[in-house]
Amino acid sequence: MTLALSINGRIRQVQAGLSDTLLTVLRDQLLLTAAKRGCNQGVCGACTVLIDGRPQRACLSLAANCEGAAITTLEGLQRDASMARLQKAFAATGAVQCGFCTPGVLVSAHALLSHNADPRTDEIRAGLSGNLCRCSGYRKIVDAVAEAAKEAKP
Ligand code: FES
Ligand code: FES
Repeated sequence: MTLALSINGRIRQVQAGLSDTLLTVLRDQLLLTAAKRGCNQGVCGACTVLIDGRPQRACLSLAANCEGAAITTLEGLQRDASMARLQKAFAATGAVQCGFCTPGVLVSAHALLSHNADPRTDEIRAGLSGNLCRCSGYRKIVDAVAEAAKEAKP
C-alpha cells in the first residue's frame, strides 16, 4: 500500500506492506540510515526516532500506524541547536566509540533535554535507560548529556 508519512517536516510517499516497520521504510526506502537496525526486536534502542516528539523504537513501529504522526529522525535534527550541543559534547567527552548506538542515544537525549533542560544525573540515566551501548560505557554518555545541558544555560 502507499503511505504518506510526515518525516522530518516533509510528506514522503512510501510503499509498505502491513508488517513493514518504520525502520525498514526509513532505512531501506528513504535511505535515512541514522536510525540503526541493532536487535530489531525492541531491546537496544539503536533505532530510536521521535514520533510526535517522543522517543520510540522504529523497529517496533509499524509504518502503517505512523500515518498522521510527525516522525523525526536524527537527520531531521541536524540544524537543531540542542542537537548541535549534544553532538559537540559527545565528541568532546569521548562518549562515542563504534557509534552504532550513538544516533539512538542522541535522539533520546534530545527528547530528554526538550522536556528537562537541567536534568540530574539520575534523570539522565533514566532518560537514556532504553538505549544500550556495548562500547564506551555509560559514564561518558551521561557526562556528555550533562555537558550539553550546561552549555545551553544562559
Ligand atoms: S533495533 Fe530497535 S530496539 Fe534494537
Ligand atoms: S559506542 Fe558502540 S555500542 Fe555504543
